[in-house]
Amino acid sequence: MKTIKASLLFFVFFAALFNSGCKENKKENQSEQETVNTESEKNHIEKNAFGEMPDGQQVDKYTLTNDNGMEIDVITYGGIITRWTAPDKDGNYEDVVLGFNDLDSYFGDVPYFGALIGRYGNRIANGQFSLDGETYTLAKNNGPNHLHGGITGFDKKVWKAEPESTGDGAVLVLTCTSADGEEGYPGKLDVKVTYTLTGDNELDIQYEAVTDKPTVVNLTQHTYFNLSGDFSNDILDHEVTLNASAYLPVDAGLIPTGELRPVEGTPFDFTKPKAVGKEIEADNQQIQRGGGYDHCWVLNETEDDFGFAASAYHPETGRVLEVYTDEPGIQFYTGNFLNGALASKTGGTYGKRSGLCLETQHYPDSPNQEAFPTTRLNPGETYSSHTSFKFSTK
Ligand code: GLA
Repeated sequence: MKTIKASLLFFVFFAALFNSGCKENKKENQSEQETVNTESEKNHIEKNAFGEMPDGQQVDKYTLTNDNGMEIDVITYGGIITRWTAPDKDGNYEDVVLGFNDLDSYFGDVPYFGALIGRYGNRIANGQFSLDGETYTLAKNNGPNHLHGGITGFDKKVWKAEPESTGDGAVLVLTCTSADGEEGYPGKLDVKVTYTLTGDNELDIQYEAVTDKPTVVNLTQHTYFNLSGDFSNDILDHEVTLNASAYLPVDAGLIPTGELRPVEGTPFDFTKPKAVGKEIEADNQQIQRGGGYDHCWVLNETEDDFGFAASAYHPETGRVLEVYTDEPGIQFYTGNFLNGALASKTGGTYGKRSGLCLETQHYPDSPNQEAFPTTRLNPGETYSSHTSFKFSTK
């Protein structure tokens, strides 16, 4: 499970990295198209301008490509994955993630399409928690609760990006600093997220962070997948497996009640592959509260710390997505709040349940629930979280 490693050396490295800091983004990002070759001609990263923030700051798009032809577009705004192509059983690569073709569409009321989430994935009850006897009040952006890092979470920050040339694949390192007190959180937090597209059609994501005061951290990735490659379809025919014998029931505000409830005999049982739509309308209080699935599953312990968490299979195209992680939980969200208000990349709109999210993370509201694995990070420690999304066909 998530390890917090004490590492002074790493901290010093971090401090040096951040001295060159996010503020320099503007200058550094101004060069036009640039290509960094990694292993071969086909395995590379290309940089292009994507748009401008309201204050004129440039936002870049990095396209990570592997030898097979998989392409992932990542923008420096929110570390958002805007496009990700995956092969079907006949080898046709199609875009399988919800998003937009232009920066402006990401401003406004967008439900975290493709974004990095921080400082805290999911909800913290009443936007409040205590640490060492001190109470911290966070931004409330979801009724009375705090959601996904607050009003200006990491999904809305412009990150500093560095493509790296390594044998592992196409690597993009994103860094950012969150000031002490930002959105109400204690401590200045330096964050590093490494996206690696491997030759195995796998996106490996490594999250790291260091703080200068005790704080809480829970980072994740909020990509919405639609493996059909056609965003006018919903995801109810996707067959999902979750390596979890229990899930966290929620109250009416979607805050975990604290109970770990067995999935057996309930619509929450995805221990064997099951079509998302099979029981999504079941007469079940938890389904009704989520408007479908919008819950955190408690992942079973695996032999390795980094183990199988989930998969999704689209029978018609044969696309398979597998998720591996060292996190204790996964938020399975079936796009219940999507309502056709946002225009899709391919024409039409993103309708209800046109995408599903598999957000690896610690449990929601952990800072207020002592029995949950801790999300505390102390100075001198390094927060570390590791997840990979792997595509194949069958
Ligand atoms: C998460 C939450 C949902 C919703 C989406 C974004 O998955 O659990 O309730 O807020 O993000 O719309």
